[in-house]
Amino acid sequence: ADAPLVLGIETSCDETGVGIVRGETLLVDAVASSVEQHARFGGVVPEVASRAHLEAMAPTIERACREAGVRLDDVDALAVTSGPGLMGALLVGVAAAKGLAIALGKPLYGVNHLAAHVAVDQLEHGPLPEPTMALLVSGGHSSLLLVPDVTGDVRPLGATIDDAAGEAFDKVARLLGLPFPGGPHIDRVARDGDPAAIGFPRGLSRPKDLERYRYDFSFSGLKTAVARWVEQRAASGEPVPVADVAASFQEAVVDVLTRKAVAACRSEGVDTLLVGGGVAANSRLRAMAAERCAAAGITLRVPRPGLCTDNGAMVAALGSSMVRRGRAPSALDLPADSSMPV
Ligand code: KG4
Ligand code: ZN
Repeated sequence: ADAPLVLGIETSCDETGVGIVRGETLLVDAVASSVEQHARFGGVVPEVASRAHLEAMAPTIERACREAGVRLDDVDALAVTSGPGLMGALLVGVAAAKGLAIALGKPLYGVNHLAAHVAVDQLEHGPLPEPTMALLVSGGHSSLLLVPDVTGDVRPLGATIDDAAGEAFDKVARLLGLPFPGGPHIDRVARDGDPAAIGFPRGLSRPKDLERYRYDFSFSGLKTAVARWVEQRAASGEPVPVADVAASFQEAVVDVLTRKAVAACRSEGVDTLLVGGGVAANSRLRAMAAERCAAAGITLRVPRPGLCTDNGAMVAALGSSMVRRGRAPSALDLPADSSMPV
């Protein structure tokens, strides 16, 4: 028999994503983003995101089916992000998925957004080694996860205690006068800068911090350090060396992320590191992770950028794995849970 055809819906933040997979094969990944509507606010506005999801939901489902050449009737199971994320945004996807599950008489799988960021890599690089270590870095989360089984056993080792990595990129970009979302702009501008120009702090990296926060991250102090440095430079009347600030800031973030991720692999005896989430598109993060993993004998897996940012394919990928592992579907009163743990 054919592998199951699974349609996945993602609405936890500002992307309305609908992906369709057959087994581990990606058929389509349709995404409608409301990012431009948030740009003038300098961050995602929950109410604006919810309304945009409502408008985009049905057209994006239709487009996904059309581009994949499948009819909704052919779908074997529905998967949807039920948390964590923005409550109003999650509710739109969960309601849509429930409606489809009821109308089509097909099982519904509520999935965890962070686990889905991990599962998506199977569409590109094949089955995940068990266990895999995952470093998830985006605008909403920065977590280190030990993943013995992405369909049901995902263990958080550490997370940010304040800002997410992407949030820090976005805030520092704003400070440097770069547009939202700022991560890609910092990445671009930093190419002309010296990463060693300014020694910005590495959060939670001193021996004393490591006792309590071995696998946790903190980026809020770094953001403040950059702000103070830029203010002082501006006050002195000298021009702000934007490229050097961007490169030095980026180096501080990437240094801590990769060092802690590799240390976690080593001490947990895990030989595969997966880096995912929007910040995994960062060129310096990819390069440093590759260097440090190679030096430590760790296999690095990074999905292509389009699969790193929020999308429906990741939800379909996890749903498909759950179907194939024989996991029980969710009840049709599946709630959205904005602070769902992994
Ligand atoms: O995963 P994602 O699309 O949405 C969230 O769940 O947040 O991640 C978006 C975040 C934004 O903060 C954006 O600035 C950051 O990922 N980002 C980057 C890069 N591309 C996107 N950060 C650093 N370098 C990049 N190249
Ligand atoms: Zn995400």
